Amino acid sequence: MTTAPDVVLSESAPAATRDSVLRGLRGKPRTLSPTLFYDEVGSALFERITTLEEYYLTRAELEILRAHVHEIATLAGPRCALIEYGSGSGTKVRLLLDALQSPAAYTPIDVSTAQLARVAAEIAADYPAVAVRPVNADYSASFEVPDLPTRARRVAFFPGSTIGNFHPTEAAAFLRRVRRVVASDGALILGVDRRKDPRALLAAYDDSEGVTAAFNRNILARLNREMGASFDPAQFRHRAEWNDAESRIEMHLESTEPQTVRVSGESISFERGESIWTESSYKYDRERLDRLIEEGGFQLARLWTDSAERFWVAFLTG
Ligand code: AVJ
Repeated sequence: MTTAPDVVLSESAPAATRDSVLRGLRGKPRTLSPTLFYDEVGSALFERITTLEEYYLTRAELEILRAHVHEIATLAGPRCALIEYGSGSGTKVRLLLDALQSPAAYTPIDVSTAQLARVAAEIAADYPAVAVRPVNADYSASFEVPDLPTRARRVAFFPGSTIGNFHPTEAAAFLRRVRRVVASDGALILGVDRRKDPRALLAAYDDSEGVTAAFNRNILARLNREMGASFDPAQFRHRAEWNDAESRIEMHLESTEPQTVRVSGESISFERGESIWTESSYKYDRERLDRLIEEGGFQLARLWTDSAERFWVAFLTG
């Protein structure tokens, strides 16, 4: 039997809120927040994405974490309180928890309620000496950090290149908030996807099995389920685009027909070819990374890459 730690529900409800969804869909361009991807179905689809041949990000990051986890543990120091932004399936943090010296606490933060509760219970069962304090929140908004051991050094963990979902200005503002959470003696272990040949990027975001397309379209099915919307996901085509000037992959859902959809009592019309922009995934080169760290108020202690130089893990100090 595993006992589930109490999940702290943050003020900022992670669920699809009517106002934010309608605001995005009324706008031009039409947008939906990528945080909406991660309901039960979407979280499972994302886990499948991470196993795809084309989606190199997860494998590259795991290669780096495995190769350098002891150095990471030394840099983090003993008895730290680990705070993970976007804990997902909880796989990566186990590498850290196994290597860290007597970690005192683990706070996973995630929008996916069910997955968070499951991961928190599993980690609590497998690491009985670690105080597990999950927070169900959209960490891009403000949330409350639960009580942590008072003298523990706070080490934030933000893997997966999820930082890439933020516009660079927002990403820097986000890092400044993380820095306030971990304080000046704290640290941040950050995963960042590198700029590379657009063909490799496009393949990663438009895989041959169509899993990313299903992941993207699930956002519409979710709005149907949770907000009584009338989307026909088959009438929206998954499109991934490389925007070189902005250094980002964009994901869109493109209307294949002129159509009108009902969303929570409102009508939203689409021309043929008009799209809903669902995600940006910014890719960093060294110059952009250095700027991000500097504007985020951190200092670079160590930077590792994988053997194929596709991904970075950075150890940042406050
Ligand atoms: C979880 C935000 C890092 O941007 O690569 C995967 C999400 N989108 N395939 C990414 C995603 C399409 C992923 N992040």
